[in-house]
Amino acid sequence: MSDIAPLQQEIELIHPPAQFVDQANIAGMAAYRAHCAAAEADYEGFWARHARDCISWHRPFTRTLNEDHAPFYRWFEDGQLNVSYNCLDRNLQLGNADKTAIVFEADDGLVTRITYAQLHAKVCQLANGLRAMGVGKGDRVVIYMPMSIEGIVAMQACARVGAVHSVVFAGFSAKSLRERIIDAGAVAVITADEQVRGGKSLPLKSIVDEALAPGGCEMVRHVVVHRRTGASVPLVAGRDLWLDALMAAQPATCEPEWVGAEHPLFILYTSGSTGKPKGVQHASAGYLLWAALTMKWTFDIKPDDIFWCTADIGWVTGHTYIAYGPLAVGATQIVFEGVPTYPNAGRFWDMVGKHRATIFYTAPTAIRSLIKASDKDPAVHPGRYDLSSLRLLGSVGEPIDPDSWRWYHRNVGNGNCPIVDTFWQTETGGHMISPMPGAMPLQPGSCALPLPGIMAAVVDETGKELPHGQGGILVIKRPWPSMIRTVWGDADRFWRSYFPAELGGNLYLAGDGAVRNDETGYFTITGRIDDVLNVSGHRMGTMEIESVLAAHCDVAEAAVVGKPDDTTGEAVCAFVVLKRTRPQGEEAAQVATALREWVAREISPIAKPKEIRFADNLPKTRSGKVMRRLLRGIAKGEQITQDLSTLEDPAILAQLRDAQ
Ligand code: WT7
Repeated sequence: MSDIAPLQQEIELIHPPAQFVDQANIAGMAAYRAHCAAAEADYEGFWARHARDCISWHRPFTRTLNEDHAPFYRWFEDGQLNVSYNCLDRNLQLGNADKTAIVFEADDGLVTRITYAQLHAKVCQLANGLRAMGVGKGDRVVIYMPMSIEGIVAMQACARVGAVHSVVFAGFSAKSLRERIIDAGAVAVITADEQVRGGKSLPLKSIVDEALAPGGCEMVRHVVVHRRTGASVPLVAGRDLWLDALMAAQPATCEPEWVGAEHPLFILYTSGSTGKPKGVQHASAGYLLWAALTMKWTFDIKPDDIFWCTADIGWVTGHTYIAYGPLAVGATQIVFEGVPTYPNAGRFWDMVGKHRATIFYTAPTAIRSLIKASDKDPAVHPGRYDLSSLRLLGSVGEPIDPDSWRWYHRNVGNGNCPIVDTFWQTETGGHMISPMPGAMPLQPGSCALPLPGIMAAVVDETGKELPHGQGGILVIKRPWPSMIRTVWGDADRFWRSYFPAELGGNLYLAGDGAVRNDETGYFTITGRIDDVLNVSGHRMGTMEIESVLAAHCDVAEAAVVGKPDDTTGEAVCAFVVLKRTRPQGEEAAQVATALREWVAREISPIAKPKEIRFADNLPKTRSGKVMRRLLRGIAKGEQITQDLSTLEDPAILAQLRDAQ
């Protein structure tokens, strides 16, 4: 990285270019403040107004917010709508029928375009197909698909018939997929024969077959298979069908299922601080409202924009800013099947130039790896490509360090594109804290201020608000429309995880630490405060990996901590005690490889420990608690300064430090 951070302590503020401000949806600080003031003055009125503006209601709502069952809040509850109708039919009515909805670029560079009218037809056909299969309102459908137009069609078709989709990232193992299918109680799975990324194909259908092995998945009646590569895959008679055949037999119009505003739109599993992932459940209207409104506010979307969010539909970013938000506002977007480094690390920049992208939204981990690649090979430096179409950049998933921020700003944005560093979570449904690009100056490393209507604060462990400059716990003080409604099948866990009694029971706990700048009040996210890691922008529960390691026949005990990493942000570091003597040298390397493969098989390759250290025991207090803070220090290679008087067996420290 060639950019050097300024040494002075004063904050570096970068003002939006005048021509951006002139055309911005929220233009200038006064406009931003006016929106915030409107929310402060009449919270429900503020949300009701936007809900009427952004959503076509089948039956208008009369009650904005029901707090009677807090923290199980209900928004616009007597209103009726259909999310797919809002993303598609509404666009046909607004004159967008022939507008390109999606520019799809396949791994091999092949481009397919689809208009709103064509997308509408496809969604209707699949929706009819789902109904013909007996899938309807409230049924759960698991989607295990590559990045594709069909993946988005599958999500929209579920929404159209009122079915609740649960997209499982196609990098998850058969075992993880199976757990999610069972937890959600899915009646159907939509998948593809294969997935193609970086020139390699991966079998998806056979993973689904493995996931559906007898003994727990009997409620899955159908598996629908999209033909991506044409590879021969066995179909189970009576259960499996081809997506193209299913759709071809159906008419291209389909009356949507009108559902209540609170009807569940989807479940998306994410890691928490226990071994079991949480099924984050979102509701229809509130989620749609925020997807649309944040497209306008954070992304400053305009009819002529070419929007590109590089996330996968398997994560929440791909839900809100690919499958729903861009369609809800009638935008044209790029959808990409492949990876940023294939055929070379200039792929993103090449595609920006080719498709004239105006808004580009990606993750810090991608930026960091592309910085490294272009340091090595100047031919893939963004400066070699035509990026003149860009007007706005975004970042999401983890904190972006100021050096990478400046590189992105200068080399991708040519110094004149604002960067929106958007803080949010699977649970929040959409952006929570982010610069409004035409309103406020940017500060590298800070995600600036809460969006209008979002009441974010930094508090201490008792829930008391802290003064600016003091680090604490990030909370949201009032419910907002796109918030998580519950943890699927575990309302108790929802309550305990997000509205803990320790904080008074009425503050939403994000799980991150934060600090506000003394002068500007800007938020800087300081990282998770629970046992959740962020590896390449993917959330991993340390407990989840620990329980998988502990389930291996050779392992007696394991502890997992995060370790800062140049490329992935954090890396997984595992401390392992075997049931036999501590392996050393070559043997240790072999066991470590076997354990990595085990984790990849049981969870996903993204959960593989980067580092595994063996010891005769784990450092524990006399009461038997693993000393994680100590392990974190060891993983970082820090000198140990903490009080070790409670440590049961001080001799193992040397082993943990030296073991590699
Ligand atoms: C966690 C949520 C939001 C969609 C992708 C990840 C971290 C996310 C930022 C940011 C600092 C961030 C937080 C958060 N995070 N965005 N701009 N700056 N940290 O969704 O998997 O639910 O993870 O990602 O730690 O809690 P997720």
